[in-house]
Amino acid sequence: MSEVRKVGVLGCGLMGGGIAQVCATAGFETVVREADSGPLERGMASINRSLDGAVRRERISAEDREAIGARLHPTTNLEDLAECDIVIEAVTEDLALKQQVWADVDGIVQPGAIFASNTSSLTIAAMASSTGRADRFVGLHFFNPAPAMRLVEVVRTVTTSDETFEGTMEFARALGKEPIAAKDHSGFIVNLLLIPYLLDAIRAVERGVASIEDIDAGMRLGAAHPMGPLTLADFIGLDTLNSIAENLLAEHHEPRYGSPPLLRRMVLAGMYGRKSGMGFYDYSADPPTVAQLGL
Ligand code: CAA
Repeated sequence: MSEVRKVGVLGCGLMGGGIAQVCATAGFETVVREADSGPLERGMASINRSLDGAVRRERISAEDREAIGARLHPTTNLEDLAECDIVIEAVTEDLALKQQVWADVDGIVQPGAIFASNTSSLTIAAMASSTGRADRFVGLHFFNPAPAMRLVEVVRTVTTSDETFEGTMEFARALGKEPIAAKDHSGFIVNLLLIPYLLDAIRAVERGVASIEDIDAGMRLGAAHPMGPLTLADFIGLDTLNSIAENLLAEHHEPRYGSPPLLRRMVLAGMYGRKSGMGFYDYSADPPTVAQLGL
């Protein structure tokens, strides 16, 4: 893999925006692409708020913030990714959509560039095969919030070349992250363990084992997790959690990955957690209060 100078990020939502911020902060020219201008503007506003906060907390200087801003190039035009050395995809977790986006960029981006998907539970091989560069295709899985979480999983599928894998590990280190190697096995390492834990916490709510607050306090205070499982489920997004569980169940056929009925109903009701304002907690209050779930 040749030296990375320019990075492309597909998607400027929660993850894509965070990843673009990480790349520009690490010194890379970063083109971030959303299909529509509304979501792109909202994503950039969120990156700008985060960077301004870092200046206020004296984590970066005002000059650094200016330089990072100048390295970020928002666009709705896929052609602007043509010169990128690596493209990181963070669009919605929908395989057909991701395959289409990859097929589109494959015809635009220089042939030597690496393609990396931030998918959390879809199969890397299924995306690699929608491009003509399956040997240069890899998984690069960040954690939310991307600027704050040190880990990335670098995921190798059956077609990934040694050069692509090593180059991506090196790139992750250049981002200031701690990469770990995982195989193309749905859930990789972290979600394989984390998702059943979160689903079990929701099952505990369903069974009336304890209150929402006490389940969260139990894991925060008894296991020193920074967030309890129900707060974390709201933070990830209950719709996202539900779709990751569905992907894991389809791959592994193990009941532990099945979505609890309560989770499915909350998603059907539009209760997506923090991003929709309502999940296991009600975010219209500050601090958030426990939601009334009618259990
Ligand atoms: N964007 C950017 N930076 C953020 C941030 C955000 N949304 N939220 C927090 N941070 C940064 C803060 O700026 C702060 O940075 P500095 O130390 O440089 O000032 C740092 O994180 C700590 O933040 P706070 O002091 O405000 O708050 P905290 O100590 O309560 O930490 C937290 C917040 C980092 C989110 C912490 O609660 C935490 O680690 N929670 C667990 C998060 C987690 O498990 N994420 C993984 C989710 S699973 C996933 O992402 C994979 C998947 O596929 C589903």
